Amino acid sequence: MEKNLERIKDNSLHSLVVCADEAASWIQDGMTLGLSGFTRAGDAKAVPFALVERAKKDDFKVNIFTGASLGCDIDKLLSEAGIINKRLPFQADATMRKNINAGKHLFVDQHLSHTAEMIRSGALSAIDFAIVEAVSITADGMIIPTTSVGNSLTFVSQAKNIIVEINMGHSALFEGLHDIYEPADQGVREPIPVTKVDDRIGTVGIPFDSAKIRGIVFTEHIDSPSTIVPLDFETEEIAQHLIAFLRDEVKVGRFTNKLAPIQSGIGSVANAVLHGMIDSEFENLQVYSEVLQDSVFDLIDAGKVNFASACSITLSGKKMKQVYGKFEKYRDQLILRPQEITNHPEIIRRLGLIAINTALEFDIYGNVNSIHVSGTKMMNGIGGSGDFARNARVAIFVTKSIAKGGNISSIVPFVAHVDHTEHDVDVVVTEQGYADLRGLAPRERAELIIENCAHPLYKEQLRIYYKEALTRGGQTPHVLEKAFSFHTNLVEYSTMLQEVETLV
Ligand code: COA
Repeated sequence: MEKNLERIKDNSLHSLVVCADEAASWIQDGMTLGLSGFTRAGDAKAVPFALVERAKKDDFKVNIFTGASLGCDIDKLLSEAGIINKRLPFQADATMRKNINAGKHLFVDQHLSHTAEMIRSGALSAIDFAIVEAVSITADGMIIPTTSVGNSLTFVSQAKNIIVEINMGHSALFEGLHDIYEPADQGVREPIPVTKVDDRIGTVGIPFDSAKIRGIVFTEHIDSPSTIVPLDFETEEIAQHLIAFLRDEVKVGRFTNKLAPIQSGIGSVANAVLHGMIDSEFENLQVYSEVLQDSVFDLIDAGKVNFASACSITLSGKKMKQVYGKFEKYRDQLILRPQEITNHPEIIRRLGLIAINTALEFDIYGNVNSIHVSGTKMMNGIGGSGDFARNARVAIFVTKSIAKGGNISSIVPFVAHVDHTEHDVDVVVTEQGYADLRGLAPRERAELIIENCAHPLYKEQLRIYYKEALTRGGQTPHVLEKAFSFHTNLVEYSTMLQEVETLV
């Protein structure tokens, strides 16, 4: 315990140390909790685990707000325990997904830059308890977060009560990594002064009102590793097409080999695509993203990336050992910021990012569906993809051209749900090729997307649809009664594939 207390440098707080069960007993039915955690990194763990235990004997429901998805199966356990009323703004857990889609609890899927603003303005329920993971509490009253910042700053500044989980499993070397800045209220706000990826504009920790600290809990439970799967033929091909596009941009003089700061989305495809840059000619790259996955550290090791700013670090088990084992090597090349700042439209536009995100499907005109499988079933959530795509210098969406062994085409006549409209999408890439949609009218887009990006299995089917659509006319031609024919065919026959002879 003595050693643990060294992490609370303000001695007046030592008397607030409690066990997780006691802290969990303070949570009342109907409360709203703001938990730290962003894409499996830096989540509050001990109190949520204790809440799940408490649910075995007590009947209660709470709203759970976070930065993004939680690791250590916390989303799964909370969902299974039946104690969630409403969850926001993002999740990525199979059990929670199933329960959301079964209507067992509510889920509000938000642009990740919006949550903090909405909490401050009172548009969302007030936060009763902020429960945030930390490496330490400084003598001058700051909470030093761990592997993510997420929405913790806003939870701490707005909550009625604060519980800090000090995680002894994280190195004290995290102190100095973070840059904590909260914009003033809208209407009286100055510009956010990030003009370069490596600008530091705030404090090293989260300032707090010590009167609101209700308890401090110790834990050693480390983050769970990411679930990305290794590179495969298709993701390597996507990476090569993306590099070909960027190379063409350099050739015409829109970029140099340094490109522009890169944002890369979550998941296996985005990780693989970024990894593909290791053997490219691009150098002195900078990353201004939301999550730093394995590939960013591979690029740092390869001397390709010289600085990375994000709001969380989410790594595979192997990479965690490597990075956290010699964290001093990486520390000076990294900044972790609140998600409100990493995803802020003002900064994304100012820095002129190249934003690379993954789609579930896109249509022949370039609308993108990132979240709703077959138009109705929640996958994960929009995350930061909208924050970045709408404001980036170049908004790129990548996906494999087919899913589920070819029974699904990721290029469809009309997406069954729209997350990113055709106006926010500049380039789409599959393992078949890329389509640069900038400056193209819908009719030009359709031809390019079908020819360059669709899988050969589905090309003819899409051509037949588009040809019929042209007979109906319009700026964006469609055969409305057949616009979702790929999806309805999937429901009826478990495949989107149709005999082309029956279509003509
Ligand atoms: N219809 C149905 N399922 C599809 C599909 C489609 N059109 N396209 C892909 N899938 C399935 C895959 O088969 C796979 O299923 P499995 O888990 O059962 O194997 C699953 O979706 C994930 O696809 P995968 O190709 O492995 O991609 P990924 O791990 O890179 O994840 C997204 C892709 C779209 C789910 C993920 O990037 C995401 O949630 N994006 C939205 C949020 C976001 O972009 N955040 C980033 C902002 S920084």
